[in-house]
Amino acid sequence: MLIRHPSDILPSEITPPEVYRERRRFMQGVVALAAGAVLGAAGDAAAGPRLPGVRASAYRLDEERTPYKDVTTYNNFYEFGTGKGDPAQNAGSLRTQSWTVAVEGEVRRPATWDIDTLLKLAPLEERVYRLRCVEGWSMVIPWVGFPLRELIRRAEPTGKAKYVEFVTLHDPAQMPGQRTRLLDWPYVEGLRLDEAMHPLTLLAVGLYGEVLPKQNGAPVRLVVPWKYGFKSAKSIARIRFVEKPPLTAWMKAAPREYGFYSNVNPHVDHPRWSQAKERRIGEFFKRDTLMFNGYGDQVAQLYRGMDLKRFF
Ligand code: MTE
Repeated sequence: MLIRHPSDILPSEITPPEVYRERRRFMQGVVALAAGAVLGAAGDAAAGPRLPGVRASAYRLDEERTPYKDVTTYNNFYEFGTGKGDPAQNAGSLRTQSWTVAVEGEVRRPATWDIDTLLKLAPLEERVYRLRCVEGWSMVIPWVGFPLRELIRRAEPTGKAKYVEFVTLHDPAQMPGQRTRLLDWPYVEGLRLDEAMHPLTLLAVGLYGEVLPKQNGAPVRLVVPWKYGFKSAKSIARIRFVEKPPLTAWMKAAPREYGFYSNVNPHVDHPRWSQAKERRIGEFFKRDTLMFNGYGDQVAQLYRGMDLKRFF
């Protein structure tokens, strides 16, 4: 992100092709076995508590899923350090029990949801989405959650609600990175209301059929698959409906480098590097980055008439 050059992944982090092919065969077998209505075991060493009653969904990809181990050990979560392995090492101090999410601002029904009630707000489904980081790497992850719009509808936004702000927990005692001045904490991200209401926008509470690991943003995070990964705020404590575009943590830190929209766009370079290609974690060669991360058919109409070089 701000501090590091796009990760040219260490040779030791790249899965050799023979291991990769073996995994592929293994995963194909697992997919065949798990073809029931309710999802079976993730098959790739998922180890945490399972989420009950997760439904399969139509959101699948004909692409290899990134192994569970990579999804949970190669992370960006600056509250727990800037190294890719730091969140997995350090996020143990995050307390996810008794978590609440406050829904506030321009809504007729403000509420504070405790996490157990939130989990039951709508049926949980598995959705396999790409996540493309601005640093130039990407993954394919089977998330578990429900569309954010389910929560938004219950909050009943007023006519003044034009944007939605997502605020990560602010507690330096639990989040050692917040004792540094790396960012102006807490981490804040934002979406336009129609982006937040889009059916693809997911409030995720799990991955690979299990409760979200802390390093991936437990107990609840956003997943906005057509935007760079940093828009997908982790460990959300507040969701606020506002009239003006929220000033996000990355816009504050580096306004020339990170705009509000942050749509995956191979035609708009980051000021310090190209965004034309990406490296899928586990693959050797880079692949072309797709406009809107491949979700253009679903989301391009949200930006009709906008100059996406200006609104980057
Ligand atoms: N949310 C918070 N609170 N803090 C962060 O540092 N990093 C973002 C995003 N959400 C971040 C965050 C970035 S840059 C990316 S790429 C994704 O989380 C990474 O999600 P993952 O680690 O689950 O793959």
